[in-house]
Amino acid sequence: GAQPPPPPIKDTSSKLVNDRLHPWLPLLPGQIRGVCPGLNTLASHGWLPRSGVATPGQIVTAVQEGFNMGSDLAQIVTYAAMLVDGNHLTNLLSIGAKSRLTGPDPPQPALVGGLNTHGVFEGDASLTRGDAFFGDNHSFNESLFDEIVATSQQFGGGKYNLTVAAEVRFNRLVASEQSNPEFFFGFPRFGTAYAEAAFPLTFFIGGPAEDNVPTNLNASLDLDVMKGFFRDSRMPKNFHRREGPLGLDIIGGALGFLSDAHPFPPGFNTGAGNYTIDQRAVDILTGNAEIDLLCALYLTFVNTTIELYPRPTGLLRKSIAVNLHNLYLPLVAVNDSAGCPEQFPFGKF
Ligand code: HEM
Ligand code: MG
Repeated sequence: GAQPPPPPIKDTSSKLVNDRLHPWLPLLPGQIRGVCPGLNTLASHGWLPRSGVATPGQIVTAVQEGFNMGSDLAQIVTYAAMLVDGNHLTNLLSIGAKSRLTGPDPPQPALVGGLNTHGVFEGDASLTRGDAFFGDNHSFNESLFDEIVATSQQFGGGKYNLTVAAEVRFNRLVASEQSNPEFFFGFPRFGTAYAEAAFPLTFFIGGPAEDNVPTNLNASLDLDVMKGFFRDSRMPKNFHRREGPLGLDIIGGALGFLSDAHPFPPGFNTGAGNYTIDQRAVDILTGNAEIDLLCALYLTFVNTTIELYPRPTGLLRKSIAVNLHNLYLPLVAVNDSAGCPEQFPFGKF
């Protein structure tokens, strides 16, 4: 069953993480990788189980150890993913496709599909992965990476930086809006799409903190290094994780920059090129609603979880309740809890 989140790591200095104890190894048959280059890389270096199946606690710790992701951000992303994609009974989550390694499933309509599951967390207009509508939402796509290279040459002097990230993010959204009749860009995808465009800058550059601040327009990522992470799940030789944790507050600033540079309102397609704006989501973003973005994301995951688990009992019910609470914990730290009350659809525990 579910466990409370592990404590934040104590030593958050920069250090060698592509070290002797964590060598990159090629994939063996049965080992799982998927939509997230961060988690793929941690698994291929043994910071996560190389199988690609892990507990949320292992993930929360590994993203801190390997990349110095802040523990608040790590917990939000991990427990959100666990709630919709993981097995609450065995406390295991696949970082890619659905897998027998996560153990016997709870009753349907629970999905327990791993991070590759489309719609509940994984979404459209990813940087290097195609839209689910076109058949493959998880494999590295060389031509999408080539577009990043071209944009980096045009706007970043041949490197990926914040200006490039804003262009790439926008171009992918426009491309999906034009070509994917089922393009979806509402919650929760609206929250994650911008974060993922900033993550390469905050976590794949490594080293001194000032080189990794997404608000530093000079921070830039070498494209060969970037490709190593995205395609091969591989850290460059001598890779030192960033200095100091980077969490919700700074990522929030990067999201603002990326969406301000090229606004693209939340919404969804009903047919290619036929985009409907989600006015409720716009109101939340522009501060014209009573709740903020993080709270709206929290409620999205609460409601999806309720749909997946209409009548859980026993250990299942308790574990979902614990994981929902784990998702809420980092939110209260940044939110006035009165403004975003905790939800208890599975009871208190
Ligand atoms: C994408 C999960 C941590 C970097 C994704 C996606 C998921 C995911 C589900 C797919 C979304 C989509 O593009 O459709 C998680 C979880 C994490 C985590 C549960 C636990 C903390 C990290 C870390 C990094 C990272 C630590 C960087 C070191 C990225 C990037 C993408 C991505 C760059 C975008 C890939 C692309 O668009 O091609 N992640 N992630 N993630 N993740 Fe993670
Ligand atoms: Mg995607």
